[in-house]
Amino acid sequence: MKSPELPEECRKPELSQNEREALLTAASGALENAYAPYSKFRVGAAVLTAAGAIYTGCNVENASYGLTNCAERTAIFSAVAAEGARMRLRAVAVATEPVLACAPCGACRQVIHEFGAEAWIFFMGAGGLEQKRASELLPHGFNL
Ligand code: THU
Repeated sequence: MKSPELPEECRKPELSQNEREALLTAASGALENAYAPYSKFRVGAAVLTAAGAIYTGCNVENASYGLTNCAERTAIFSAVAAEGARMRLRAVAVATEPVLACAPCGACRQVIHEFGAEAWIFFMGAGGLEQKRASELLPHGFNL
């Protein structure tokens, strides 16, 4: 049901089954390129932009652990590089190997917030695939 008090962005419809499947498949494929020699936890992410394109990313670790880039941010930065500053997120999907519960980390939530505060986020939760809005995962995200 539509909530009249919500801004337009919040009323964006859910993804179609085809869109959802394409996004989840892209996220699973992306983890094949993960560079994760330290954690051995391979993560893939795929983003669907408002323009209708899908971009992917994987985690890229470093011997200096803190320099690691998560799969979600890799994908989002690729989307910006391809579409430019107007890029907006409609959805983000995360896949991992081994398959474990894995919601986007706090840093990635803030980066998602920057480009799609109401984007749909698909990730493995404790009981299976979860679908949440970015604003549910990061209430009161930071804006400048
Ligand atoms: N990682 C991601 O790529 N995305 C997440 O949502 C959680 C964590 C990566 C970072 C690091 O390479 C590995 O998983 C273990 O933390």
